[in-house]
Amino acid sequence: MADTTMDKLVSLCKRRGFIYQSSEIYGGLSGAWDYGPLGVQLKNNIRDFWWKEMTQMHDNIVGLDASILMHPRVWEASGHVSNFTDPMVDCKQCKNRFRADQIDLAAPCPNCGTKGSFTEPRNFNLMFSTHIGPVHDESSVVYLRPETAQGIYVDFKNVVQSSRVKVPFGIAQIGKSFRNEITTKNFIFRSCEFEQMEMQYFVKPGTDEDWFSFWREQRMAFYHKMGIKADSLRWHRHGEDELAFYAKDAYDIQFLFPMGWQELEGVHNRTDYDLTQHQKFSGKDLSYLDQETNERFVPYVVETSAGLTRNVLMALSDAYEDQELEGGDIRTVLHFHPSIAPVTVAVLPLVKKDGIGEYAEKLEKDLREDFATFYDQSGAIGRRYRRMDEIGTPYCVTVDYQSLEDHTVTLRFRDSMEQVRVPVSDLVNRMRMETKQYKRV
Ligand code: GAP
Repeated sequence: MADTTMDKLVSLCKRRGFIYQSSEIYGGLSGAWDYGPLGVQLKNNIRDFWWKEMTQMHDNIVGLDASILMHPRVWEASGHVSNFTDPMVDCKQCKNRFRADQIDLAAPCPNCGTKGSFTEPRNFNLMFSTHIGPVHDESSVVYLRPETAQGIYVDFKNVVQSSRVKVPFGIAQIGKSFRNEITTKNFIFRSCEFEQMEMQYFVKPGTDEDWFSFWREQRMAFYHKMGIKADSLRWHRHGEDELAFYAKDAYDIQFLFPMGWQELEGVHNRTDYDLTQHQKFSGKDLSYLDQETNERFVPYVVETSAGLTRNVLMALSDAYEDQELEGGDIRTVLHFHPSIAPVTVAVLPLVKKDGIGEYAEKLEKDLREDFATFYDQSGAIGRRYRRMDEIGTPYCVTVDYQSLEDHTVTLRFRDSMEQVRVPVSDLVNRMRMETKQYKRV
């Protein structure tokens, strides 16, 4: 029925403990968000899903966790000090700041309505800076990384020398990035502190275009595997005027968010731009020797760059449904793929008495080894199912009198609301199989 709106998502996220505004009791901090008990689990599950897909499923992609603070020359070499800017104007009347490319400069200020109050556009660098060490001067300036990718380039030589990788190979990294974004509306879509999941794939020059199309296919398949509706995903190729300063070619995977089609992930052909720049600025040789052909070259890089926190917003938007049931009732349900749902299985005793509560408690503890579980014995069973639907729990197991006699339980599926009787001894395998075969209806 009714479309997912951002207001509904924000409200569900706060009510059920997915996402809260940062520093809320102090009036909030714009551009920063806290992931509550269910939110952090959802985020970790998406992170693990990506990590498995990008490292475990490829024998030539290795992981890295580089530091957030890096030598300031890194960002001169990468071009971020001079180029990582947005044009910005200030309203002289209300002092609000806007991105010059996102408002009509001839119109009145969108905040206070004053006409002709904007300053001339100025370029504003998006990197946060701070100081390292006790002295606060020019020489101690360091930046919070605005992308995780540079840590990969800077450690390229270390990885080549310390592991047995051979071009083509990839380095994957997940971590926090920071950008002093001027416009941070739309919930967690664009924030100042966020997480990225990036993979840099190092290839022989001349093979880059083939790898570029290979990785585009892989990345779209990833979202299908995560159970995201195919018609909510599309490609957008960057025009000349959109290309980042480092890119030869770039495609975005866009998702149909509640506010419209927006970028979810970028797949970029970064050529040898970054490694060559770091060679120049560090004075170190970052070329690669192909031992079979004895050729030496600076590899080209195909980058896949996804926002983890933006993936969380996508997963929530994609999953949300206010579903009209027979009889006119409405249930709010999150159709998460079981692999990313914060709770996989809820164990619910039909009643607490006559040993049913104890049986269910023990079952829930036994299932912890294999799944993220939740035990709930309060309220009518129908209301307990609804509470689980609302946080996207794919399986509910109900224990009743019959369970005490024949050790079977009811397994209820979130999407179809169908229930089947299953022997307790088959439960783990059944849920594993259902998860593997899960298809979004
Ligand atoms: N290393 C390349 C790079 O950082 P990008 O297009 O600037 O490319 C990649 O960012 C992804 O990171 C975006 O597709 C988006 O998912 C996420 N991202 C970028 N800025 C963000 C922000 N301010 N808040 C949340 N996610 C962001």
